[in-house]
Amino acid sequence: MKLLITGTGGYIGSIASRAFLRSGHEVIGVDACYRGYEEPQELLQEEFGRERFRFHKADIKDCAADIMRDDPGIDAVVHFAAYCNVGESEKDPALYFNNNVGAVTALMDAMKNAGIGKLVFSSTCATYGDPQYVPIDEKHPLGECASPYGESKLLAERVIKWYSRLFELKCVTLRYFNICGASDDARFGDSKKPSFHLMQNAVRASLGLGKFKLNFTEVDTPDKSPIRDYINVEDLADAHVAALRFLEKGGSSEIFNLGTGLGNSVFEIIEKVEQITGANFEKSVGERRQGDARAAVADNRKAKEMLGWEPRRDLEQSVKTLYQWYQNRPQGWSR
Ligand SMILES: NC(=O)c1ccc[n+]([C@@H]2O[C@H](COP(=O)([O-])OP(=O)(O)OC[C@H]3O[C@@H](n4cnc5c(N)ncnc54)[C@H](O)[C@@H]3O)[C@@H](O)[C@H]2O)c1
Repeated sequence: MKLLITGTGGYIGSIASRAFLRSGHEVIGVDACYRGYEEPQELLQEEFGRERFRFHKADIKDCAADIMRDDPGIDAVVHFAAYCNVGESEKDPALYFNNNVGAVTALMDAMKNAGIGKLVFSSTCATYGDPQYVPIDEKHPLGECASPYGESKLLAERVIKWYSRLFELKCVTLRYFNICGASDDARFGDSKKPSFHLMQNAVRASLGLGKFKLNFTEVDTPDKSPIRDYINVEDLADAHVAALRFLEKGGSSEIFNLGTGLGNSVFEIIEKVEQITGANFEKSVGERRQGDARAAVADNRKAKEMLGWEPRRDLEQSVKTLYQWYQNRPQGWSR
């Protein structure tokens, strides 16, 4: 299929684009490089050739309609482009609502006008708010989001729902839990410095690439640290390829949770990183954060059953690939 993929210069978008290219798809990438980079996209071009992967450095809000007109025959869109820093969203909510909701709206409208009827959308478990039960299935009520970031993704889901309801458009929405790891060959990874993620930052610190402080609210778990579901980024990428296949076979609009179904506490992740990297972290709890949920773990049975997808990589593989990635590129992508 010929795909338009947004956010191809970012962490997940670059690794998922590679998975789509490996599955035989042709990809037109778009990234404004606000938070992403040209370098991973150039590597994709080297690996797969310019015929199979070409990219535009542009804001999807401005360019969606033009790309669909100038590069006709796009079969489906995969939308990763968004801002996703919770802390930043609390300081500047307008940035998040304008970009994350604005980009989806522009994209959906361009798709409607171009007659493109398939979308795979990156969403987040943050849309569930504070979990009422775990594991969280897709029927879990949508909650009071804890940040403007989460709210912007929930609003984006609602925009998509309206376009799907009103027009010939099918969308698979994927709600991710905590993403970790680098690509299996460690050539592509998370270039945020620091990352938003516990495992990423612990591995960076193990290589002397930044300070690391435990930062969580004490909760009612055996070691008092919050439990999360850590899913490897390559497993996540595979789920996107499976989601597109589902739409290709005539699947209807659906929402799927993407997690492993297993929970690990903050201390368990730290111990895993210590075990693999040889680091030894200060265990005292730093700054307390308000409102950390006790546990957020995915019920992933729907994705397994309907997409035929299975997470295959464990925590050890995620820590190892991250370690290699940060060792190879201590400063991340350079441009
Ligand atoms: N990283 C996570 O843990 C996580 C968890 C849940 C959901 N998500 C979602 O996954 C997606 C990708 O996240 P990521 O971690 O790869 O982030 P990222 O910041 O590495 O990548 C996002 C990319 O989108 C680009 N972008 C943003 N707005 C754009 C616009 N208007 N036009 C063109 N490009 C634009 C940025 O430049 C960046 O390269 C996001 O939609 C995010 O909400 C991420």
